Amino acid sequence: MPSLSIVRSLMAIVALLETASAACTREGLLASAQSYIDAQKAGNTTALKLSPTFKYQQNNKERALSAGLLATPFKLDLVRSTADTVACASYTMWISSAGSKPYVVGTQIRHDGNDTSTITLIDTIAATTGDLFFNAPKTLGYIQKEDWSPINNTASMPSRELLKKVGNGYLDMWTDPKAADSIPWGTDCERVEGSQYTNPCGKNLPHGGSSKPNGMRRYVIDEVQGSVDVLCQFDSLGTMPDSHEIRVIDGKVKYVHTITALKIG
Ligand SMILES: *[C@@H]1O[C@H](CO)[C@@H](O)[C@H](O)[C@H]1NC(C)=O
Ligand SMILES: *[C@@H]1O[C@H](CO)[C@@H](O)[C@H](O)[C@H]1NC(C)=O
Ligand SMILES: *[C@@H]1O[C@H](CO)[C@@H](O)[C@H](O)[C@H]1NC(C)=O
Repeated sequence: MPSLSIVRSLMAIVALLETASAACTREGLLASAQSYIDAQKAGNTTALKLSPTFKYQQNNKERALSAGLLATPFKLDLVRSTADTVACASYTMWISSAGSKPYVVGTQIRHDGNDTSTITLIDTIAATTGDLFFNAPKTLGYIQKEDWSPINNTASMPSRELLKKVGNGYLDMWTDPKAADSIPWGTDCERVEGSQYTNPCGKNLPHGGSSKPNGMRRYVIDEVQGSVDVLCQFDSLGTMPDSHEIRVIDGKVKYVHTITALKIG
């Protein structure tokens, strides 16, 4: 029988090894996001590595994976992903503009215990014909022209704190009259809300007016891309499932994208 102290030491070593391996990497997050993209293109989820506690959510409502968008193959015209190694989550935007069912989609994927080898949550906001300012070819045209190359130097990268502040500030504009002025707008910055285009993006902003804060906020923050994506329920104007993505370079907002569905589920 090994003594209790030896057993304790061994357990401590095992715990240490587990902590050391529990690092969430950018590569792991982006590989998992790619498996989601491949599944979406195929309309087949067989190859997705799902954890036993896996959940699928579409437009802020839980449903079976087989009853969601992943059950149908889509031709994707544009795909872009970002990675949050602290929250161990990724964000993928895709646009399918052709066909009878066009979509603009924002999906956050989450992993428990920093383990990117399995997926615990696929959380999708999906807009289609009839949703707010929806016109997929127009949205595609604007977003294709944007420069999403990685930020070249660390001095130009926003901090995690700034990204979260900008994401929250943006969603607070409908309830807090001071929020709009707390955001560092860039001079040459573009806002694409559904298919509605505004430049500079700091023009025509709300200054409060609603008493209902936008709720259910879920964040994916990527300092390397300079982006924050917040999925939420747009309670200030209704109960609309929504994604707001904002890119910040050199401390200033460069791009804003919104995807808004009109109803839950
Ligand atoms: C999904 O992919 C698996 C593995 O390639 C395959 O066996 C299965 O038939 C596919 N399902 C559908 C509905 O195409
Ligand atoms: C995940 O990684 C972060 C950052 O490396 C660390 O602070 C955290 O404790 C890890 N979480 C788990 C559950 O291992
Ligand atoms: C990165 O560098 C290239 C080449 O100098 C430049 O064109 C691009 O705008 C830079 N991108 C960012 C996001 O800094």
